[in-house]
Formats: sequence, structure tokens, C-alpha cells
Amino acid sequence: MTTDYDKIAKEYQESKLQPWRTHIERYTLLSLLGTVQGLNTLDLACGEGYYTRILRRLGAAPISGIDLSKGMIDLAISQETKEPLGIRYRVGDARSIDFGEKSDLVFAAYLLNYASNYQELLSMCEAIARNLKPGGRFLTVNNNPDDPPSNFETGRKYGYSKRLQGSLEEGAPIHWNFHLPEGTVEVTNYYLSTATMEIAMRDSGLTDIHWHKPQVSPEGLRQCGESHWYEFQANPPITFFECTKR
Ligand SMILES: C[S@@+](CC[C@H](N)C(=O)[O-])C[C@H]1O[C@@H](n2cnc3c(N)ncnc32)[C@H](O)[C@@H]1O
Repeated sequence: MTTDYDKIAKEYQESKLQPWRTHIERYTLLSLLGTVQGLNTLDLACGEGYYTRILRRLGAAPISGIDLSKGMIDLAISQETKEPLGIRYRVGDARSIDFGEKSDLVFAAYLLNYASNYQELLSMCEAIARNLKPGGRFLTVNNNPDDPPSNFETGRKYGYSKRLQGSLEEGAPIHWNFHLPEGTVEVTNYYLSTATMEIAMRDSGLTDIHWHKPQVSPEGLRQCGESHWYEFQANPPITFFECTKR
């Protein structure tokens, strides 16, 4: 059931080129990020380093990227070799990492939605808290638990669709399909309610939780027109939040 990213590392990397990724996902994350100059940063579930490189170029240092998939980390390292930025990458499980050195910022794009129950989610949140300095910040984007299954096909217009397996209950698999020129690639994550996410944050010592809706970049509005993004914004498939280590 769990997605084997080693097998789809290249295709997943390609899905990052879909316009909604740039004009909404990346734009919203960067708007929320603020200044990262000199911040000791950890990118959990960094994949092939898409956001790790962006964070580094914005001045985050030192910076490390951790991912469970060797295939994804290999892609990240090959880009680091071609164009060295000083990023440290390593294969590791975000649920058990303990860096020793505490971070100012932990960033995680699409990690939490790989937890299929409260206990797994709690281990991720505890690891995030363990690796943050007091007052340090966690910023993340994940599948939006409040996106109704009746909306799951509307993403086709943007190049993706979602499929719920079974009924919408804690731990239910949600299959994301990215429709790429070479074919469709599927990744599976899990539904956990917003309430469960908030409880796990608080139980790990992460407070001041602020949820944010996706925003469309001025460039995205100019290129595609406001009406193009209507369905995405009416029922966002993804959600963003930030919180602080007590
Ligand atoms: C959807 S991809 C996102 C990659 C990257 N953050 C991005 O936005 O391009 C999800 C990533 O989470 C990683 N992942 C899933 N569970 C993990 C865990 N427990 N620890 C570390 N990485 C994990 C997968 O290997 C995969 O690379």
C-alpha cells in the first residue's frame, strides 16, 4: 500500500512542473516562509530536494534534507553534485530522526499525510519537536482532510485527481494520481482529520497552529486568468499550516 518512491522518483519530480505546483503550492509556501537567511533548517521528506534547494538559495544554512526513499535522495544528491549548494542529504525515517543539533526551522512538504494513524502521526510530530529549538518554527503542506471526496475529480483540469479507497474514516487511503504527458503516476497517502492533526501537534509540544488556504501567484493569475483557478480555490486539495515549538 505504501508508495515506493524509489520506483517513481523521476515521475514524481516531473509532477513538480505542473503549473499548480508553481503558482499555488510553491507560491503559498514561499509567502508563508518569510525570511530564512541564516536559519538552521531541516527539510523532512525532502524528496529529490525541490524545496531544499529553494530554501538554501533563499539563504537557509546549514540545511539538511532527509527522505525515506533512496531513489529520491539519489536524485537530490545528483543535483547537488552538478550544482553544489552545500546541502546535506541523507536517507532516513522522519519518525525516528534525532539530529542532536536543533533547527530554527523544520519544513516538510507532504510528510504528515503518510501517517496512517494517530500513533504514526505522533511519532512524526515528536521528531519535528525534538529537532526544533524552543520557539523554532514548523511549516508544512499536506493533503487537505476537508476536501470532500465529491471534489476529487475536479483536479483533472490541473493535471491530478484523487481517489478515496473505502469510506472517509481515519486511516483511509487516498490515492493521488498525477496525469503526466508520459502517463499517470499514483501515490497513496492517508486521511487523518484536522482534529487528529491538531491533537498530535499539541501532544508533541507544538503550539500556535495556524492553518492557511492556498494562494495563487500574480504570475499564475496573469498567465491563466482568475477563473482558471476557481475550482482549486473553492475546494482546495491541499492545506498549509505552521506552528511553533513551545
Ligand atoms: C509527495 S513526496 C514530497 C517530496 C518533497 N517534499 C516535495 O515536495 O517535492 C513525499 C515524500 O515523503 C517521503 N516520506 C514518506 N514517509 C516518510 C518518512 N516516514 N520519513 C521520511 N520521508 C518520508 C517519501 O519518500 C517521498 O519522497
